[in-house]
Amino acid sequence: MSKIVIVYHSGYGHTKKVAEAVAEGSGGTLLAIDAEGNLPEGGWEQLAAANAIVFGSPTYMGSVSWQFKKFADASSKPWYGQQWKNKLAAAFTNSASMNGDKLSTLHYLFTLSQQHSMYWVGTGMMPSNSKAATRNDINYVASSSGLMTSTPSDASADEMVPGDIATAKAFGQRVAEAAKRFA
Ligand SMILES: Cc1cc2nc3c(=O)[nH]c(=O)nc-3n(C[C@H](O)[C@H](O)[C@H](O)COP(=O)(O)O)c2cc1C
Repeated sequence: MSKIVIVYHSGYGHTKKVAEAVAEGSGGTLLAIDAEGNLPEGGWEQLAAANAIVFGSPTYMGSVSWQFKKFADASSKPWYGQQWKNKLAAAFTNSASMNGDKLSTLHYLFTLSQQHSMYWVGTGMMPSNSKAATRNDINYVASSSGLMTSTPSDASADEMVPGDIATAKAFGQRVAEAAKRFA
């Protein structure tokens, strides 16, 4: 049985909704980084026991939030012992603008995964980019390296685009399938 852990930070609840959808699709467990950038008790042990770790952060000023970066810096401890070596890694980010420099965030999360000697899983999804495409299509935000979702800047966490939430579930399923193949 694969253990998938979704470790994420969310300042205002939007990325949390994406994380929940990834957890639903993958059957994984949520692990929230708190407002001070810390994991709950037992969080590091949960990550050590995982087969796959999915990293999630909002995009703030073109990168991860400082709380996520604090977690990433603290992961230098397991890095010393290469504790996460050969686990699967995948990532997602949510931001307000359709582009919003989300790829910078995913690139950072990819680099983090490679420092930990993990195997990266992308979305495996075709973009929805034809004339007939609509905002609620799967992978309308059209990312291949990791999951991207966009929330209008004045939308509450309860107003996430349904197609993005469905894309997040499908992304979770892909991580679960990869974890099963890899086991
Ligand atoms: C400090 C800060 C920086 C932000 N920088 C970006 C950005 O670079 N690109 C973007 O598209 N949106 C940016 N946003 C908007 C957030 O990505 C967006 O509101 C997102 O839904 C917040 O997710 P959360 O509710 O999980 O914190 C920024 C918001 C804040 C508070």
